[in-house]
Amino acid sequence: MRFDIVTIFPGFFASIFDNGILRRALAEGLVTVGVHDLRVFTHDRHRTVDDRPFGGGEGMVLKPQPLAEAFASLGIQPKTERVKGTGFSPDVDAEIEPRALAPEGNASENSSPIPPPRVILLSAQGRPFTQALARELAATERVVLVCGRYEGVDERINQIYCDMELSIGDYVLSGGELAAAVVVDATMRLLPGVLGNEASSEFESFGVADAEIAVAEDGVPRSQHGAGGLLDYPHYTRPAEFAGLRVPETLLNGDHSEIRRWRREQQLRKTLANRPDLLEGATLSKEDRKLLDAIRGETE
Ligand code: ADE
Repeated sequence: MRFDIVTIFPGFFASIFDNGILRRALAEGLVTVGVHDLRVFTHDRHRTVDDRPFGGGEGMVLKPQPLAEAFASLGIQPKTERVKGTGFSPDVDAEIEPRALAPEGNASENSSPIPPPRVILLSAQGRPFTQALARELAATERVVLVCGRYEGVDERINQIYCDMELSIGDYVLSGGELAAAVVVDATMRLLPGVLGNEASSEFESFGVADAEIAVAEDGVPRSQHGAGGLLDYPHYTRPAEFAGLRVPETLLNGDHSEIRRWRREQQLRKTLANRPDLLEGATLSKEDRKLLDAIRGETE
């Protein structure tokens, strides 16, 4: 999978791509990231990328021309000129478009056409970035991330080139760079081979629903502790006692079904405490509902 990031701060991404899982994924060629300096596409002495807003008001707006030239240099056409039927699904939970199977540069008549890139504008006005959307992006071949700055980006760029406007949360950042890094990180770790343990991304918070999770071979009944739209349970490692606090006994006794029940209860507790809104969309068993009622009863 390839990401292209268009930014006025290309240096911002150096340390992000030079550490941890992303560094390994890049080194192994599982992910490719191109960072493109918007100022390269200016033609004046001051390399001007912004201008004052029409209609007055605070701040500056990213000019359309350098962005349009940046897109052209990346081979990105206006939306209307791209192949039809390969845009984002209106509902991110809907069917995921498969990754293009044709190897690069080998688009024979029989192979499926490589879908056009998904062009995303990072902005506080965007739709929320979610795990479901990360999964959808991970199923595509190429994503182009445009980092907004100042007061925003000339809206015609959004209109002509961008498939969606994306926000990473209800707060205003100084620009889209941090948001782009978040999108790359959350997406690339879902790609096959990126995480050491292929399964681990499925079992954490916002993982796939229980029903979709395969049973693991290591004896721990994972199918029962898939997140299923809940937050993850707490994790502990050695020592068994730290600062006078002991690891819950259940985790030490090796009884997998008891561990499973304990973890599920912890998921429910954490979700109820921190993100009660998630409970509405979560896959809950009868046992889960009973447990939830009991937990709710504790605080009444
Ligand atoms: N740019 C400024 N704020 C942002 C946000 N919350 N998400 C994405 N891009 C942004």
